[in-house]
Amino acid sequence: MPDRIRLDGRVAVVTGSAGVIGSAAMRLLAERGARIVAVDRSQQDLQAAIRDLPASAQALAVTADVTREDEVAGYVRAAVDKFGTIDVFYNNAGVEGDVTPITRYSLEAFRRVIDVNVVGVFLGMKHVLPVMLKQNKGSIINTASIAGLIGAAEIAAYTASKHAVIGLTKSAALECTATGVRVNCVCPGLIDSRMLSAIIEGRNPAQVPVANDKIVERIPARRLGQASEVASIVAFLASDEASYVSGSAYTVDGGRTAG
Ligand SMILES: NC(=O)c1ccc[n+]([C@@H]2O[C@H](COP(=O)([O-])OP(=O)(O)OC[C@H]3O[C@@H](n4cnc5c(N)ncnc54)[C@H](O)[C@@H]3O)[C@@H](O)[C@H]2O)c1
Repeated sequence: MPDRIRLDGRVAVVTGSAGVIGSAAMRLLAERGARIVAVDRSQQDLQAAIRDLPASAQALAVTADVTREDEVAGYVRAAVDKFGTIDVFYNNAGVEGDVTPITRYSLEAFRRVIDVNVVGVFLGMKHVLPVMLKQNKGSIINTASIAGLIGAAEIAAYTASKHAVIGLTKSAALECTATGVRVNCVCPGLIDSRMLSAIIEGRNPAQVPVANDKIVERIPARRLGQASEVASIVAFLASDEASYVSGSAYTVDGGRTAG
């Protein structure tokens, strides 16, 4: 059966595209036919991520700090200048921040997490939406987390920021869905990644490597997730197969938050 989730010719902007989940999503979107605008902090890391794309893929790499409004406006402008529009926006850049109890969490570190994970997501939507609203079509996918649905000890800033991403997603969906622009978010669970290792190591340096950690026992799927499994949901939400899906928060967590 032919793959129904095709994105031929669509223009997809992916932030955090040099990271584990962003690069997997960018690769899958490109495999499905999308033209890619890859956004991250380092040109060198972006080039490495782009080298993994299919040879036929068209891709533009733009360095930007998602917390800076001028740089967000810059990647949106670069996408439109290069490809004419933006059809898909995977608003994914994020940081885990410090791993420490609230009583020891510095205000500066707390604000930094909110700045990247909340302000960055807000600014991305603020600048991409006018492009999509002009064409009455588009799909925005924000990356939240299961930490946006339940609490997580020692990463309070991260947890607060991901709850906020779900709120931003729902507000944007209410503002935009009547126009044909859909806004959703994904809530990955424990994904085999640098970020998860950093959180586990921060909580207890003796608990790495991740595969041996007790957390796997609390996941009904009895394993960590793969970035490619998050990417599959992103590709679905980006596509016309998700034409009636907006304002949703899709968990990709092996059942971790089901109980
Ligand atoms: N890894 C997990 O288990 C997991 C689980 C749930 C949610 N998430 C979320 O998924 C997203 C991607 O995480 P990941 O695991 O790929 O992490 P990662 O650290 O591999 O990738 C994050 C990327 O975001 C970029 N980034 C950070 N701050 C930025 C800024 N100010 N401007 C531009 N780019 C910036 C980083 O350079 C990096 O390439 C994040 O939003 C994260 O919170 C991850």
